[in-house]
Amino acid sequence: MSNNIAIDGPSASGKSTVSRMVAKLLGYVHVDSGAIYRALTLQIIRDGLAGASPEAIARHLSSVAMRFFVEEGAVRFTINDVDPGTAIRSLAVQEQVSAVAAIPEVRTWVGERLRSLTTFGNLVVEGRDIGTVVFPEATFKFYLDADPEERARRRHHEQQDLAGNAMNPVEVKRALLQRDACDQSRSTAPLAMAPGAYRIETTHMTIEDVVAQIVEKIRTVPKHRLPKAIERAGFSPFVYHFSRVFFLCYLWIFHRYATHGLKHVPREGGCILVSNHASFLDPIAVCCNIWKRHVYFLARDTLFKQSRFMKWWAIAVGTLPIDRNKGDIRALKGAINLARQGNMIFLFPEGTRTRDGHLQPVKAGIGFLIEKAGVPVVPAYVRGTFEAFPRDAHRIKFSKIVTYFGKPLTPADCAVFKGDPERHQKIADLVMARIAALDPAGGQTSVFAKATPDKS
Ligand code: DC
Repeated sequence: MSNNIAIDGPSASGKSTVSRMVAKLLGYVHVDSGAIYRALTLQIIRDGLAGASPEAIARHLSSVAMRFFVEEGAVRFTINDVDPGTAIRSLAVQEQVSAVAAIPEVRTWVGERLRSLTTFGNLVVEGRDIGTVVFPEATFKFYLDADPEERARRRHHEQQDLAGNAMNPVEVKRALLQRDACDQSRSTAPLAMAPGAYRIETTHMTIEDVVAQIVEKIRTVPKHRLPKAIERAGFSPFVYHFSRVFFLCYLWIFHRYATHGLKHVPREGGCILVSNHASFLDPIAVCCNIWKRHVYFLARDTLFKQSRFMKWWAIAVGTLPIDRNKGDIRALKGAINLARQGNMIFLFPEGTRTRDGHLQPVKAGIGFLIEKAGVPVVPAYVRGTFEAFPRDAHRIKFSKIVTYFGKPLTPADCAVFKGDPERHQKIADLVMARIAALDPAGGQTSVFAKATPDKS
């Protein structure tokens, strides 16, 4: 199940730039459905069917193959094994595309392909009928609009940039209005605002303001949606913050604690924080210096059984218990929901503390969780906790502890394994490789040497 965001609206309402930016901010995959209609139109022209009857075009669809992949956070495609490139923006395509897009069989054909893209993860899809027909169950639906004068001005500007020569603004406006009329009046899936969509009038807004409004809408709703289990169990923001500051002072005073790369930790939105695990000091070393938001934890259930105080405290700071022996599906679902609902969760992919200071192999379960949650994954590497308080130690050594945060892995990065039966394991290994790559000494990378390091 993916979380999809539909952004519909007429031509030049700002959909493309806005959707691309929203997808980037949320770590979702961007889909430009208009580009698919355009590429199909281009293929039809190239196959000599420009102006052919709807029946002939419908019959021709079986000879067209589109292959989709994700590149730089967006869905791209080939059509009959060729990259259509910028030709889809040509005048010839522009003139034909509305007529092609009005053919019911074409709409079914494109709709099926759009729905198949959910295998890439959470999507931000822009178009005309995304909230009404393609993804009526989308988590959020937006409808962008602007007055025709402003849209014609934007389109004229855009086409001048593209064509590099002076286009007639009157002609641009005429073509735009004609396309609007065609998109709104066709009998199948006309351009319309979906029920429950948020309408944003962009005429006097900057792109950044529109993006901010959309992102705020998406993020403010989930903030209050903590799973009932955590709310009921006794989560206390006060205990969390008190504990965090207490441990931060402890680390500063006794371990000359430092953090690097905190800028990579998103201030808002669903996110999974992962790190290596060498010591009981790791959770505090990773989370203490994150000031702006709560971090919820996933911890083995035996922690809750150690003492009544421990149980109370673990719950109060927002810990989800997990039974590692049973691969606890309920806890995994809880964690996935927490992340999807806009929260940050922290977990150790390795599960247990290392015995020798080296990173350990990881199980596919973490890859499953990451794929299902569909949120960015921030890698962290903790250095020094193994020396300070390793497994089986009875006393803490007051040695230096440093935590390094790395660039988040996005759902689009994980989508490269799409269709691979081993993908959960591969995602898990990739995450560990990102953690290993943060070790400044580079001494821990042996197990995960194959995956790409990223220290930026
Ligand atoms: O968004 P755009 O200008 O690239 O879209 C090109 C054409 O495709 C436009 O005439 C409307 C049509 N289209 C559609 O009918 N349904 C969509 N979901 C997306 C685009």
